[in-house]
Amino acid sequence: MTSKRGSHCDIYIWFLQVLTILVLASLAIWATLTPKTPTFTITNMDLKPYIRNDTVLGTNSSFLAFNVTISNPNKMTGVFLDEINVTIGCNNESVTGSRSWSKSVAGFYLGHSVSDLKEVDLSVEDNELLLCRKVDYYLKCELETGVRYKVMWFKTRHRRLVFEDYVEIGYGHGQMLGTTQMKLKLSFTNL
Ligand SMILES: *[C@@H]1O[C@H](CO)[C@@H](O)[C@H](O)[C@H]1NC(C)=O
Ligand SMILES: *[C@@H]1O[C@H](CO)[C@@H](O)[C@H](O)[C@H]1NC(C)=O
Ligand SMILES: *[C@@H]1O[C@H](CO)[C@@H](O)[C@H](O)[C@H]1NC(C)=O
Ligand SMILES: *[C@@H]1O[C@H](CO)[C@@H](O)[C@H](O)[C@H]1NC(C)=O
Ligand SMILES: *[C@@H]1O[C@H](CO)[C@@H](O)[C@H](O)[C@H]1NC(C)=O
Repeated sequence: MTSKRGSHCDIYIWFLQVLTILVLASLAIWATLTPKTPTFTITNMDLKPYIRNDTVLGTNSSFLAFNVTISNPNKMTGVFLDEINVTIGCNNESVTGSRSWSKSVAGFYLGHSVSDLKEVDLSVEDNELLLCRKVDYYLKCELETGVRYKVMWFKTRHRRLVFEDYVEIGYGHGQMLGTTQMKLKLSFTNL
């Protein structure tokens, strides 16, 4: 009798072991599934008052405004975004680095499969901009942030994301050329 009960126990233990291995294996697979990076799309970049006669207003500053749509492509993973630093620079080799304008967007949480739109505007010294606008010109757009993914009830460690791209601006109207939206290229991540 006792030996029979013992073999029953063995089967239970065996089942328990198999179950443990299965659970551990699926956890390992889950952990190696890296979440997809959120995407950043710039829309309607608009530089004004570009044509307006600024001397009338007694100022030489232009106003650069655009929207950035941040999308979380993950179906089961939320994203905690840190503060987003946006830097717009002039794509002229002789002035790169020295001519750029920055703005920060406060961090926020983006649920799974959700998009959010943030408005960004910054004031640009027209005198400086004159250096990079000859005819149609490019503005270098850089976006830097940190993210933590929320996988079930876990939060992953911080990952740094840097996006970088060039947006072509029409000389005459100060708006994006040929398109109204542009998905920025990821240039760095330590995912
Ligand atoms: C700006 O307006 C003033 C007064 O109307 C005019 O004299 C000047 O030429 C204008 N400047 C430009 C750059 O259009
Ligand atoms: C605007 O630019 C002109 C020419 O560079 C300069 O003389 C003027 O002082 C500037 N005005 C302001 C308000 O910065
Ligand atoms: C950004 O989006 C908001 C809401 O859709 C809109 O009112 C605003 O005009 C947009 N700004 C630009 C610069 O496109
Ligand atoms: C860059 O700016 C300088 C100074 O305004 C100008 O001489 C040069 O032609 C510009 N280069 C390009 C590639 O636009
Ligand atoms: C954004 O800029 C601020 C101020 O320069 C800096 O402290 C912060 O670390 C930057 N954040 C990112 C994600 O680069």
